[in-house]
Amino acid sequence: MADLEKRILLQDVGKPNSHSIDVYEESGGYTALKKILIEDNKKWTPGAIIEEVKASNLRGRGGAGFPTGLKWSFIPKDSPKPKYLICNADEGEPGTFKDRVLLEDTPHGFIEGMIIAGIALDSKQGYIYIRGEFYKPWERVEQAIKEAYEKGYLGDNIFGTQHSFHLATYRGAGAYICGEETALIESIEGKRGHPRLKPPFPAVEGLYKCPTVVNNVETYAAVPHIINNGAKWYSSLSVGSEKSGGTKLFSISGHVNNPGVFEVPLGLPMIDIIEKVCGGIKNGNKLKAVIPGGSSTPILTAEEASKAIMDYEGMAAVGTFLGSGAVIVLDETTDMVELAYRVAYFYEHESCGQCTPCREGTKWVKDIMKRFKDGIGQENDLDTLCDFSQYMANGATVCPFGDAVMMAVVPIVQKFRSEFEARIDNSEDVQHKVSAAG
Ligand SMILES: Cc1cc2nc3c(=O)[nH]c(=O)nc-3n(C[C@H](O)[C@H](O)[C@H](O)COP(=O)(O)O)c2cc1C
Repeated sequence: MADLEKRILLQDVGKPNSHSIDVYEESGGYTALKKILIEDNKKWTPGAIIEEVKASNLRGRGGAGFPTGLKWSFIPKDSPKPKYLICNADEGEPGTFKDRVLLEDTPHGFIEGMIIAGIALDSKQGYIYIRGEFYKPWERVEQAIKEAYEKGYLGDNIFGTQHSFHLATYRGAGAYICGEETALIESIEGKRGHPRLKPPFPAVEGLYKCPTVVNNVETYAAVPHIINNGAKWYSSLSVGSEKSGGTKLFSISGHVNNPGVFEVPLGLPMIDIIEKVCGGIKNGNKLKAVIPGGSSTPILTAEEASKAIMDYEGMAAVGTFLGSGAVIVLDETTDMVELAYRVAYFYEHESCGQCTPCREGTKWVKDIMKRFKDGIGQENDLDTLCDFSQYMANGATVCPFGDAVMMAVVPIVQKFRSEFEARIDNSEDVQHKVSAAG
């Protein structure tokens, strides 16, 4: 039942040449920018743009769900330094593939959003930090930037006004941590992608120590629609909590009949998305669990998923997060031990190594999970794993990566403990087997 879908950011996706400026303009693209700079320029002061975005209840779509207008308001107005805008198109969270659709199939939406944000924040330069593996999306974004320059939407003195805005892409090189905004900034500066201690936050000291806003692709893509149709309209698209406005793109994968990227109002029951939008569980199997917002969000059991509401507050009510909207659906055939090992393996591989608790802890977590996968778990392993949380999470590291590992792995163990207990080896020569397994 595709009628739960509400295609606003995805309105052009599926049309021939949806990535071109002609298709975007035919569906009203760049009218928000024209409104701000020409038709209604008295109304749309920078402050009014920020207030409109605030009132829309748009929250960052990159994972943390921070209110976008509020973030923009932190940029100091009186700073003599240049202000930078960054679009986070790193999309590294396992399970997430929704930004790719925007980048590849409808890039002008977020580009227009960035130009509007540039006007609101008095920024003349934006960067799009794009995942290195996204070659085709990068080509499409480059082409879109060229088209926008040719039409005069980008460049100096846009439409003869005092506003100038330039955009350039920067390709990542495959590190998950470079999606973390301060590691991303370091990477653009040509350094190793290590997260920075906060404060200072990027709004005060970001790229080249200048005030910087980092937003996700989807966040920027919502902005032209907010300007065109109003904050109230955007906010009321959501059918859930008032604090979570608009639609959301979900990347849905796993054991569903119809996986893909879907745009739906925030606030729908998770089970409706699985059954009505994605055609239910494959092969008539039973739902076992759902990872709701990308691999770093705590897993839900089928029972928890059946009550869960897909917005920021609804997810918090069941002890998890909306994250980036990467819903991984797992049916009754899923081996939870394999899943936990796979997740732990990913985090060990991707830890940047800057902080000792994360660098060492991710290896310990992976090693424990490997023992269970190999059927040689030990009696005290599960409790030891849960104890790690106090060393790796709760602010023990510069960035939330350490927390993410524990949030991802520990709930799988806690909620499906019997599957791990079944892999405990009580035999006398277990130590020998463990050493041999490495
Ligand atoms: C380890 C890690 C990886 C992240 N990866 C991404 C990413 O790929 N894309 C993204 O938009 N945000 C990612 N984030 C969140 C960003 O740090 C930042 O909060 C986000 O880009 C802000 O944009 P928003 O307010 O529009 O959500 C990541 C955070 C962490 C801790």
